[in-house]
Amino acid sequence: MQRPRTTVAVQPLGCTLFLLLACLLNAAAATNCSAFATNGSAAAQYSYYRFYDFRNLPEDTWQYVKNASDPNNGTAGASTTDMGWSLDWQRRNGLLYAGEGSNLLPIDYQMDKVAPRNLTQDEADPGATTALGLYTSRQQEDRHQSSGIDFNEEKILYLSLRVRARVSGAAGACTAFFTYANDTQEADIELLTRDEPHIVGFNTQPSIDIHGNYINATHFNTSLPNGLSRDQWVNYRMDWVSDHVVWYIDGEYMGNTSTHVPVEPSHLYITMWGNGGTWTENMTLGDSALLEIQWIEVAYNLSGAEPTVDANAAVCNLDEAKSSGSWNPQSLPAPHHYEASAGYKLGMSTLFMLAAVLFTL
Ligand SMILES: *[C@@H]1O[C@H](CO)[C@@H](O)[C@H](O)[C@H]1NC(C)=O
Ligand SMILES: *[C@@H]1O[C@H](CO)[C@@H](O)[C@H](O)[C@H]1NC(C)=O
Ligand SMILES: *[C@@H]1O[C@H](CO)[C@@H](O)[C@H](O)[C@H]1NC(C)=O
Ligand SMILES: *[C@@H]1O[C@H](CO)[C@@H](O)[C@H](O)[C@H]1NC(C)=O
Ligand SMILES: *[C@@H]1O[C@H](CO)[C@@H](O)[C@H](O)[C@H]1NC(C)=O
Ligand SMILES: *[C@@H]1O[C@H](CO)[C@@H](O)[C@H](O)[C@H]1NC(C)=O
Ligand SMILES: *[C@@H]1O[C@H](CO)[C@@H](O)[C@H](O)[C@H]1NC(C)=O
Ligand SMILES: *[C@@H]1O[C@H](CO)[C@@H](O)[C@H](O)[C@H]1NC(C)=O
Ligand SMILES: *[C@@H]1O[C@H](CO)[C@@H](O)[C@H](O)[C@H]1NC(C)=O
Ligand SMILES: *[C@@H]1O[C@H](CO)[C@@H](O)[C@H](O)[C@H]1NC(C)=O
Ligand SMILES: *[C@@H]1O[C@H](CO)[C@@H](O)[C@H](O)[C@H]1NC(C)=O
Repeated sequence: MQRPRTTVAVQPLGCTLFLLLACLLNAAAATNCSAFATNGSAAAQYSYYRFYDFRNLPEDTWQYVKNASDPNNGTAGASTTDMGWSLDWQRRNGLLYAGEGSNLLPIDYQMDKVAPRNLTQDEADPGATTALGLYTSRQQEDRHQSSGIDFNEEKILYLSLRVRARVSGAAGACTAFFTYANDTQEADIELLTRDEPHIVGFNTQPSIDIHGNYINATHFNTSLPNGLSRDQWVNYRMDWVSDHVVWYIDGEYMGNTSTHVPVEPSHLYITMWGNGGTWTENMTLGDSALLEIQWIEVAYNLSGAEPTVDANAAVCNLDEAKSSGSWNPQSLPAPHHYEASAGYKLGMSTLFMLAAVLFTL
């Protein structure tokens, strides 16, 4: 089967027969955007938007990710079906040592612990047959095998992050979706596999004072709404703006804070790790845990950068979509590190992919 590429430019009103179904499905969503709007108490507009979709990875794509290292590859962007996502993210690699004077184990980040997974029929969501897996396990006494992906943009100044994910496995792991500049500049969502399965943590850092007590309004240890547990598919959302961080689960408001809101341009990281410490807990030898991600959606601004805005484009609203994660602009502002690009590049909606695949079956 011939797989469509993201480099195919698709005009919403000029559909070929082959893409007719895709165009019908996508007509309402396909658009060029001048900015990306979010709702809620931290409602804002952002200049950049990405949607990384791991729900229907073709079986041969993994070969590309291993080799996709060219930072000037113009096809990186919304679609993951060509492994473009791997040009926007680096898989973590190597040992990360805890500070001196502690008994913590080194966190052993291994690139091959980030890998696509087939979902069984029981595990699947409608429309999802695969997910990106981030594994963590205890294979050795002296280290903890871990995994993580780091977003290449390093100067994010405010964002709205949404991740559809689930977490399973043994006690001793921490799942983290977070922005980070230094230890006093962090906003996060954390799930500990040692916690009861309905517990989720939201923090701005530092959240613990020098006496080891939680600092007011920096740490939210709450239950997932609607009886959900972390081993079910859940939409995690964190909005970070200048004066305020707010968290949502499946669209439901969970908490907000104005305390220790990061002010520095930051990285965006997703990690699945353990270090044998009392906080993560010491994973039993031979045990493992798994983070699975269906998609990552992020609208963000970059410190000191703005894309060239298409004068004909409109503000696109992430939260107007019928279902979260299904919305895609037709073209995406280029990442900052592609200085030479025209400001926009084409992305392709997953609906195009899905429809094209269905069409050829
Ligand atoms: C969207 O932007 C692309 C690239 O600049 C352009 O080719 C296309 O015509 C635009 N589409 C619309 C609907 O404006
Ligand atoms: C955002 O908009 C969606 C769709 O209108 C709505 O369902 C949701 O409750 C809104 N969320 C917030 C935080 O306002
Ligand atoms: C992002 O940048 C745009 C363009 O400068 C600006 O209008 C918008 O307010 C910024 N968003 C936030 C959350 O600061
Ligand atoms: C990727 O790299 C590996 C090892 O460097 C090589 O064996 C393989 O052929 C490459 N795959 C592609 C698609 O270039
Ligand atoms: C960009 O990456 C894709 C795979 O992700 C590859 O097929 C393509 O050849 C690359 N293009 C360039 C210019 O490196
Ligand atoms: C997923 O299933 C396909 C067959 O449908 C198989 O070729 C592929 O190896 C499987 N991938 C993994 C990671 O198990
Ligand atoms: C982190 O960044 C803040 C803001 O720039 C700065 O005040 C603080 O000293 C930094 N902390 C560390 C540990 O580097
Ligand atoms: C933290 O909150 C508690 C209870 O809400 C309050 O009694 C205490 O004074 C607060 N501490 C600080 C430092 O604000
Ligand atoms: C969250 O609260 C539960 C009890 O409800 C506790 O067992 C757990 O240690 C707490 N986790 C964190 C990270 O504070
Ligand atoms: C933010 O949190 C404060 C303190 O808990 C609360 O009073 C306020 O209503 C929250 N704001 C929103 C918009 O939910
Ligand atoms: C941590 O786990 C390892 C592997 O199961 C075990 O050998 C070790 O004794 C544990 N350490 C502590 C402090 O519990």
